[in-house]
Amino acid sequence: MKVFVYHTPELTPTDPMPACAVVIDVLRATTTISAVLASGAEAVQAFSNIDELMAVSDRWPSAKRLRAGERGGAKVEGCDFGNSPLEYTPERVKDCRLFLSTTNGTRALQRVETAPIVIGGALVNRRTVVDFLLDRQPETVYLVGSGWQGSFSLEDTVCAGSIVASLLAQTESKLVELAGNDETIAAVALYEQWRDRLVDLMAAASHGQRLLGLGCDADLKYCAREDILDVLPIQKEKGVLVKA
Ligand code: MLT
Repeated sequence: MKVFVYHTPELTPTDPMPACAVVIDVLRATTTISAVLASGAEAVQAFSNIDELMAVSDRWPSAKRLRAGERGGAKVEGCDFGNSPLEYTPERVKDCRLFLSTTNGTRALQRVETAPIVIGGALVNRRTVVDFLLDRQPETVYLVGSGWQGSFSLEDTVCAGSIVASLLAQTESKLVELAGNDETIAAVALYEQWRDRLVDLMAAASHGQRLLGLGCDADLKYCAREDILDVLPIQKEKGVLVKA
């Protein structure tokens, strides 16, 4: 298995596609997707465009349809939800399909949607991602950070480092054997520096600062927690993720 970390969708090669793409948006899309599926939603359908989300979801039975839109960290007018993982209780989402569009995370999913395997990764479900990779042993794995509008994000790269560090701890591989690029080695170093103070890293991150400015302190605490959800979001058809 060779693991490649890419900091943003724009930096992620699409030819060739990897055997497995892990899309990471810790603040907050893939954390939210994991929480939504853990709460019993039927699926999460991702859209990079709000208008397309509205048009497609109009054709879904209203009793089983929820719409979530986020731009700049704030909820989009006309949607039932924003993008806080804390909103999605079982009472509100069970057996529903969540139609979701966010600033960066849904674009990252779209970038790699033609890969044979696409899964959603975050700190909250890090263990399930690692267990899946150890079990399936894909030849190439891209850990795709969502970043922020084309820029690097601390939180996504530290999560990629968390995944790689956990892979190393459970295999005989050495980092230089597992790493497919320099970014992978750098991601592990970032994680080793911050692993015991991930909430502090979230608060230092530019998007974390943006969310704190919106009063989303509880989101940062939740998104920083490792291995609290035993759920693996996996793409069953383009843009549609279900619990594996
Ligand atoms: C993103 O797509 O960049 C994030 O999900 C934004 C957010 O929810 O704060």
